[in-house]
Amino acid sequence: MGTPAKTGEPVTLTIDGFEVTVPEGTSVMRAAAEVGIQVPKLCATDSLDAFGSCRLCVVEIEGRRGTPASCTTPVAPGMAVHTQSKKVRKIRTGVMELYISDHPLDCLTCSANGDCELQDMAGAVGLRDQRYEAGRNHYDAKGGTLAQGDTRARVSEGDKGNPEYIPADTSNPYFSYDPSKCIVCNRCVRACEEVQGTFALTIEGRGFESRVSAGTAEDDFLASDCVSCGACVQACPTATLQEKSVIEIGTPNRSVVTTCAYCGVGCSFKAE
Ligand code: FES
Repeated sequence: MGTPAKTGEPVTLTIDGFEVTVPEGTSVMRAAAEVGIQVPKLCATDSLDAFGSCRLCVVEIEGRRGTPASCTTPVAPGMAVHTQSKKVRKIRTGVMELYISDHPLDCLTCSANGDCELQDMAGAVGLRDQRYEAGRNHYDAKGGTLAQGDTRARVSEGDKGNPEYIPADTSNPYFSYDPSKCIVCNRCVRACEEVQGTFALTIEGRGFESRVSAGTAEDDFLASDCVSCGACVQACPTATLQEKSVIEIGTPNRSVVTTCAYCGVGCSFKAE
């Protein structure tokens, strides 16, 4: 599933009653942004090809069945899109409940607190509580589940006896990978492919077992083809992939954009 290709022909449609004209091939999500409507999203970014996996950006389109993902649906002439209908708001809340059910509830002590898209989206869809049993990321050392608000870290010695336990990968000198916080949005994998062209990462497993893998026998980033460019860290919406400096000294309070000096292409990077 890729980003719809823009061909340049203008297409006029309405989104939540607002008329907008965009080039043919533009996604409904990007057309909505043109009129100031930010559709909730987790797997889509402004720079990566759309993937359509998180299902948070669903919308209703008059005359069409179902609730398509706005990030992978191209605009069409005369289309009437609704991004805030009762039906899509209910779907989004349900999707967020599922994400949160398999995510540590340690926001207040998490190094990404205040800089986490999962946290932002939970707020955006109005999620206040979730009804589901905690997934494996909430298991304690005895195989039971941690209560809401329990901030015990999964890296404790006790967790290592739990067959569900997967330790954080701290092998890379610049960043760490904590699978307990991963929502498997695929953004890191796509950034590695599309931004860096390295193809060092992949997703393995299904359901609760699905996780990002560096694909090595040692299964760590240092032994993989990773070149430590940081594209995956930039793309990560949670604290799964984080610079070690952020984990150790906190989130940055400023950023600068710098241009790589090693060749004539002129790639720019944001440094924080
Ligand atoms: Fe569209 Fe994830 S943002 S499916």
